[in-house]
Amino acid sequence: MVYFIQFVLCGVALFAAACSAASIQNRQDLPDPDPNTSTPQQCIETSLTNPTWGIYNPSLVAVNSSSGGTQGDIRFLTINSATGVSASCTAKDIDLYPKGAAALDVWHNCSIPDLFFQFDLETLDMRLRGSWRCDNLSSLVFMANGTWEAPLIQGCLDESNTPRGQETLCIMGNSQVSAGLSSPVAIHPQLPLRPYTPRERAQRCVDRSYDPEWQVNSLRYQHHFAQKDNKTFAQKDNKTSMSYDLSLDVTNISDGRNMECTVTVDLLQNTYTNGTTPWVRCSDGSITNSSNTSTSVDVTLDTDYRILGIRQAWECSDGVAGVERGQFTGIAYTNISLECGTPLNLAVYDSQGSVVGATSDYNCSLSTAPVTFTGYVDAAPPMPHTYYTRSCTINSISNTTTMALRAYQIESALQSDNNKTSVVGAFTLHNPGPGDTYKLRRMPVIDDGGWHECTAGPEALPWQLVGCKYMLDRHNHRLGLQVQWFCDDRDPSNAILFNATVEEQLPAEVCGTAGGRESCGLPVDAAELAMSISSLSWTTSGQPMNRGPTMPWI
Ligand SMILES: *[C@@H]1O[C@H](CO)[C@@H](O)[C@H](O)[C@H]1NC(C)=O
Ligand SMILES: *[C@@H]1O[C@H](CO)[C@@H](O)[C@H](O)[C@H]1NC(C)=O
Ligand SMILES: *[C@@H]1O[C@H](CO)[C@@H](O)[C@H](O)[C@H]1NC(C)=O
Ligand SMILES: *[C@@H]1O[C@H](CO)[C@@H](O)[C@H](O)[C@H]1NC(C)=O
Ligand SMILES: *[C@@H]1O[C@H](CO)[C@@H](O)[C@H](O)[C@H]1NC(C)=O
Ligand SMILES: *[C@@H]1O[C@H](CO)[C@@H](O)[C@H](O)[C@H]1NC(C)=O
Ligand SMILES: *[C@@H]1O[C@H](CO)[C@@H](O)[C@H](O)[C@H]1NC(C)=O
Ligand SMILES: *[C@@H]1O[C@H](CO)[C@@H](O)[C@H](O)[C@H]1NC(C)=O
Ligand SMILES: *[C@@H]1O[C@H](CO)[C@@H](O)[C@H](O)[C@H]1NC(C)=O
Ligand SMILES: *[C@@H]1O[C@H](CO)[C@@H](O)[C@H](O)[C@H]1NC(C)=O
Ligand SMILES: *[C@@H]1O[C@H](CO)[C@@H](O)[C@H](O)[C@H]1NC(C)=O
Ligand SMILES: *[C@@H]1O[C@H](CO)[C@@H](O)[C@H](O)[C@H]1NC(C)=O
Repeated sequence: MVYFIQFVLCGVALFAAACSAASIQNRQDLPDPDPNTSTPQQCIETSLTNPTWGIYNPSLVAVNSSSGGTQGDIRFLTINSATGVSASCTAKDIDLYPKGAAALDVWHNCSIPDLFFQFDLETLDMRLRGSWRCDNLSSLVFMANGTWEAPLIQGCLDESNTPRGQETLCIMGNSQVSAGLSSPVAIHPQLPLRPYTPRERAQRCVDRSYDPEWQVNSLRYQHHFAQKDNKTFAQKDNKTSMSYDLSLDVTNISDGRNMECTVTVDLLQNTYTNGTTPWVRCSDGSITNSSNTSTSVDVTLDTDYRILGIRQAWECSDGVAGVERGQFTGIAYTNISLECGTPLNLAVYDSQGSVVGATSDYNCSLSTAPVTFTGYVDAAPPMPHTYYTRSCTINSISNTTTMALRAYQIESALQSDNNKTSVVGAFTLHNPGPGDTYKLRRMPVIDDGGWHECTAGPEALPWQLVGCKYMLDRHNHRLGLQVQWFCDDRDPSNAILFNATVEEQLPAEVCGTAGGRESCGLPVDAAELAMSISSLSWTTSGQPMNRGPTMPWI
């Protein structure tokens, strides 16, 4: 250990010139103690997006280090990026080389409550841990810790014969510590890792391929829906088909080659009830080029969130003979703007002129073209499954006080004895946290005032719902819903699972009977009803979200 300290300090002593008193006086100063009083909402946003402590004027004094001393002082100033609160952190005559199991239990105080640090000369790591609130009255307490790894020592100055002995003062560069949170939720907030876009395109395909780039010149999405009714036979003989054709005109910027990519996806074969959209292989005769270079292109399109993904494998030789071809793979996502036609519900007639089915097709195309976007080599970094710009995490934590009931309808079949059977409910609930609207359609319901799992009717439950329970008490006009959803936009590796219960007294139902069915809804003036949240909680799942479309960092 003695050797280590000598190594650090003697190593630095090599910079004898830099270790002059002048360089020490030339210390960077604390930026004006930030008067930037952020609003509580901005503070919450920074706390959950990029919690950091700025480190200013850090210095270290080691006493008798050349003769094996391990005592000394540490001092620095710090500013919390979320609150703008500054503090000075100073520890005198401490053991700079804490050893043993308890070494990490020793924390030094800073000048404000709830901010502590520790230092280890062996690794030169400085750890900070602290907690703060964004609003004195808020129950939201942020607890965070982070490590300032291997600070840069700018220079050292020895002074012998001080009252403590030989002192070595080392000045370190300003820095910052980005922290992980343990409260209100255990995540390590990540800023977007956007793909790199070079300012100029390189000449050679090999060089361009390190920053893969695509240009979509045109896109045509054709949605097909058809239903063939079979009146003579049971309803199960009705045939429904749902599919889309997608064609893309893409230029692979790496070599400027154009390709027509066509894809047909049968949406009933790929029932992705977890919300993921499939990657499908493009077919295009021109992809295999004359020199027999086989490439592959896959695309994914989510029309709800308007996200287009491309992944491709390709090779470059740049026409240099005898040089092995470079092999590349890349992936990119982009948010596109689509213009879609209105689905037309057209009846299908047979030769006798009677209706035997319906079709409903529509087309979409790019509203602005071309679209150029860069991607990542090999694999994309972890990406969120909800938007980054409209944060599901922040809104769910700090802005979920009510949800909106946008539809309520109970239908029952009336038996001859007026007994009601096969009761189904349709509820639409808007959750301002993730910004999602859950449509529960024709869900079989039990009207007994108890909590029951939501069960899918003819349609799957919305993929956004990780869990769902309902409580229906029509006699007392009460409805409750308990929903769970994920947010992973601040830390895609650690999705947060939220759990909220809403319950509300409803106005009396308005009912009507037709065709042997009774249908009950809410009065027109209660079309949208605020449902108060009776409980809201969240935990870190510790794993990725595993459902829904992957969102590019937008
Ligand atoms: C205050 O903080 C905001 C957000 O961090 C920043 O955009 C702005 O420039 C800051 N203003 C000053 C005067 O530092
Ligand atoms: C650090 O602060 C705590 C109170 O927050 C106090 O009990 C403790 O004595 C302080 N330690 C030192 C070394 O000043
Ligand atoms: C919040 O706390 C700070 C520091 O303790 C204090 O200066 C400020 O007046 C408090 N604000 C309110 C609204 O209580
Ligand atoms: C440093 O060494 C001097 C001279 O040997 C001694 O007087 C002094 O107590 C030492 N200081 C520490 C902190 O060990
Ligand atoms: C830092 O926080 C993490 C949780 O985010 C926790 O597991 C770890 O023990 C903490 N480290 C310290 C030194 O407090
Ligand atoms: C099957 O077709 C008949 C006749 O048009 C229609 O009444 C019925 O609702 C259809 N069944 C389903 C499951 O779509
Ligand atoms: C109706 O269903 C029967 C039995 O599956 C089938 O034989 C018949 O061709 C169907 N008719 C039409 C018009 O699809
Ligand atoms: C994409 O560019 C590479 C690099 O030149 C080329 O080898 C490959 O054939 C291109 N792929 C397609 C599908 O055009
Ligand atoms: C009506 O429904 C109830 C409960 O399902 C049942 O007990 C009762 O026998 C039914 N009445 C008739 C007349 O079927
Ligand atoms: C909070 O939610 C409301 C209602 O959904 C919305 O209008 C408001 O913009 C949200 N606030 C923030 C800070 O996102
Ligand atoms: C959700 O919260 C409610 C109310 O606190 C609780 O009863 C329920 O068990 C929770 N559900 C899950 C899946 O955590
Ligand atoms: C979603 O479901 C599909 C089909 O069942 C499956 O292939 C896919 O891996 C699932 N996605 C995730 C993220 O689990």
